[in-house]
Amino acid sequence: MKKLFLVAGARPNFMKIAPLCRALRSTAGLRGVVVHTGQHYDYAMAESFFTSLGIGKPDFNLEVGSGSHAVQTAQIMIRFEELCLREKPDCVIVVGDVNSTVAAGLVAKKLRIDLAHVEAGLRSRDRSMPEEINRIATDAITDLFFTTEKEGTENLIAEGHDASKIHFVGHVMIDTLLYQLSKMGNRPPSDLAKSIKCLLPQKYICMTLHRPSNVDTAETLRRVLDAVSKLAEKAPVIFPCHPRTLKNIHAFGFERLTPPLPDSRRILEKGMYRTEPLGYDDFLYLWKDACLVLTDSGGMQEETTALKIPCITMRETTERPVTVEIGSNVVTGTDAEKIIQSGLKAVAGEWKDSGIPELWDGKASERIVEALKAIYCR
Ligand code: UD1
Repeated sequence: MKKLFLVAGARPNFMKIAPLCRALRSTAGLRGVVVHTGQHYDYAMAESFFTSLGIGKPDFNLEVGSGSHAVQTAQIMIRFEELCLREKPDCVIVVGDVNSTVAAGLVAKKLRIDLAHVEAGLRSRDRSMPEEINRIATDAITDLFFTTEKEGTENLIAEGHDASKIHFVGHVMIDTLLYQLSKMGNRPPSDLAKSIKCLLPQKYICMTLHRPSNVDTAETLRRVLDAVSKLAEKAPVIFPCHPRTLKNIHAFGFERLTPPLPDSRRILEKGMYRTEPLGYDDFLYLWKDACLVLTDSGGMQEETTALKIPCITMRETTERPVTVEIGSNVVTGTDAEKIIQSGLKAVAGEWKDSGIPELWDGKASERIVEALKAIYCR
C-alpha cells in the first residue's frame, strides 16, 4: 500500500483536498493521509471545512498557527520534516499556492520524496504577490504537475518542464463545488444562511476581501469599501469578513463603512452587511444566487465562472486568465470607477456571455487518481 500525504493548511486548500480524499478512499493500493499544517486554525477558517466537506479529522495537525511569512514557512518545514521522517510517505501532494504548499514541497524534495502539485503552472506575473512566489518555487521542484487550464500547462512548458510530467486534469475545486451543490439541493445549509437569504431582496451582491495588497493599507481598503458602498446603494452586499480584514477594519477605524449584520435582522434593500467568515455551504448557498460577486480571491474567480455568476476581481492581475477569456470574470483592479461601472452593469443584469472551461466537469480528482495509480500501482 503506497502512502500519499495530502497537505492542506489554509482555507482554500481544504476544498481542493476533499475530492482527492474521497477518490483515494475507494482506490486499492493507495492510501491518502491528510496533513493539516494549522496555518488556518479558527473553527470557521478550518475545522468547519473539514466537517462540511467530509474530510473528517485530519490524520496529523502540525498546529503552526500565524506568523510572518518566514516564521510560518519555517515552522511548517520543521514540523513537516519530523512527520515525513517518521511516517515515510511515498508521495507528498500539495495544492494551490499558500505558504503551506511551498513549505511542504521544499521538505518533501529535500528528503527525496516524490512531490505532486495540484493546480500547478498558474502565473500572475506579479512577484509582489506572496502566492506567486509560492507557485514559482513549488513548481521549480515538483515531479508531477496537475494543471487546471491549458495556460498552466503552457507556462510550465515555457519554464522548461518535461511535458510527460504534466497532466491537464481540470479543477479539483470545481469537483467540490459541484459535489456540494448536488448534496445541498435547494435546502439551506443552516438557519443563519436561511435567515440572511430570506431577508435579502431578489438582487444582492456577495463580497470577499482579504488580500494583503487590498486590506493592509488604509488608503486602498478605504477606496475599495467606498466603491462597494456605491454599489450597495443599488443592491445589498453581504460581506463575510476574513480575520485579517476585520483586524484592519478595526485598526483603521472603518467600522462605520461596514456595519455588522444586525441581530435584529434589519437587512434593508441597500447597504453593506459584514458577517463572520461563513462555512463553505453557507457561503455557497448565498453566492450561487447573487447577481454579482466582488472578490480578490483566486478560487472565487473560478467558482463563479463554473456557475456563470458575474464576478469582479478587485486585483491588478489574475493568474487564472481562463476565467476572463471564457468565464464570467472581469479584472478591475482597485480603481473605484471601474468597480462601480462594472458593478452597475451586473446589477442591471447586463453581463458578458460566458462558458465553462474545458474539463471543469467535477472529475478532476478521478483523473488525478488515475495518473497516480499508473505510477504507484504498477
Ligand atoms: C492565506 C494565503 C492566501 C489565501 C488565504 C485564504 C499565504 C501566503 N496566503 O492568506 O493565499 O488566499 O490564506 O484565507 O499563504 N487569522 C486568524 N485565524 C485564522 C487564520 C488567520 O485570525 O484561522 C489571521 C491572523 O491574524 C493571521 C492573518 O489572519 O496573521 C493572516 O493569516 P495567514 O494565514 O498569514 O494569511 P491569509 O491572509 O489568511
